[in-house]
Amino acid sequence: MPVSVRSFAKINLGLRIGAAREDGFHELLTVYQTIGLHDLIRVSLGRGRGIEIQSTDPRVPKDESNTCHGIVKKAMQALNMKGRVLIHIEKRLPVQGGLGGASANAVAAMLALERVLKKALPTEERLRIAAEVGSDLPLFLLGGTVLGVGRGEQVYPLEDLPATACVVVTSEVGVSTPNAFGEWDRRTGGAGVSALVEGGSSKLTLPAASDRMSELGRGLSAWLSQSYSGAPRQISRRGRAENPLLELVRAGIENDFEPVVFPEYPELSEGKCALERAGAKYASLSGSGSTLYGLFASKKAARAAAERLKTEGWAAQATVTLTRREYWKKFLVSSF
Ligand code: C5P
Repeated sequence: MPVSVRSFAKINLGLRIGAAREDGFHELLTVYQTIGLHDLIRVSLGRGRGIEIQSTDPRVPKDESNTCHGIVKKAMQALNMKGRVLIHIEKRLPVQGGLGGASANAVAAMLALERVLKKALPTEERLRIAAEVGSDLPLFLLGGTVLGVGRGEQVYPLEDLPATACVVVTSEVGVSTPNAFGEWDRRTGGAGVSALVEGGSSKLTLPAASDRMSELGRGLSAWLSQSYSGAPRQISRRGRAENPLLELVRAGIENDFEPVVFPEYPELSEGKCALERAGAKYASLSGSGSTLYGLFASKKAARAAAERLKTEGWAAQATVTLTRREYWKKFLVSSF
C-alpha cells in the first residue's frame, strides 16, 4: 500500500568551511534547521524489479541521478527486498539549491519505503546509507536543530528551539556547490579568510581553517552551555527573554559561502539586503545558495515582509522553523 510523507526543507543557521580533505570534501561546521516548507513523497511497491520516479515538476530527474534512486536502491539491498518501487515527488519546494530539497526527498523516500515494506533499518544503517548518498542527507533523519560536522554528514541533535518565523527568498540563479567550494579554495588557498589576509602560505593554511572552525565551535559551546546550564537567557532591550535561535545567530555564526557566492551573484547580496530592509532580525544565504532566508520576530512580521518582498519582485515565502517534535509529528501524511 502506498505511503505518503512530507519532505521538509532545511536552512543553514551559519556554516564554516574548514580545510580541504584528501577525499575531495571540506571539513564543515554548520547548524541545520528544518523548516515548514516541504514536498510530498509517495512510495509504493509493485510487481517486477527496478525503481521508477515520477514528478509533477519536469525539472526533477527521473533517472539514476535522482538521489531518491540511489537511496532506495541501497535500502532495498540492505533490507534484502525485491520488487518495483514507484516514487512520486510532488514538488512544492523551489528546485534551486540551499534548502536541501533533493536530499530531504531521498531520506523521506527511504523512510516511506520502510513503512511500505513494514521493515525498519537499524538507525546506524539509515545514517550510513544517507551519508553515502550525500553530505546533507543525514540531518533529515533527525530534524529540528541539528549540528553538522565532518563533511556535514555527522549529525547531532541540538536542543529543540521554539518555532521561529522566517521568510525564504529564491532566485533564478543556480549556484553549483562544488564550484562554490572550489572558489573558496581559490580565494583562500584552501585555508580560510584569515589566511587570505595573511597571504595564504601553506604553513598558515591549516591553522587558519581550524581557527575559524574553533571560533564557531566556541560560540556554539557558549550558546549550548547557556541552554543547558539553567542560567537565565539573555534579556533583550525590551525586557523580554531573547529568542534562542536569534541568540544563536548573533553568536557570530556566519555562512562562509557568502563572501565567495555574493561577488559572483550580486543579485543574492541584494536579496539579503532586501530581507534586512523588510525587517529580518537575521538574514543569510542558506548552504551554498541560491536560497536566502531571514528570521523574523513574529509570524505577522514574516508575512508582511514576504508581501513587501514580492512587490519588490522577489520570490518570497513565509514559513516557520520546525522543531524536531513537529517535524516527526507532521512527517507522515497517510498510510492506507
Ligand atoms: O555530499 P554532496 O553530494 O552534497 O557534495 C557535493 C559536492 O560538494 C562534493 O562532491 C564536493 O565537491 C563538495 N563538498 C565539499 N565538502 C563538503 C560537502 C560537499 O567539498 N563538506
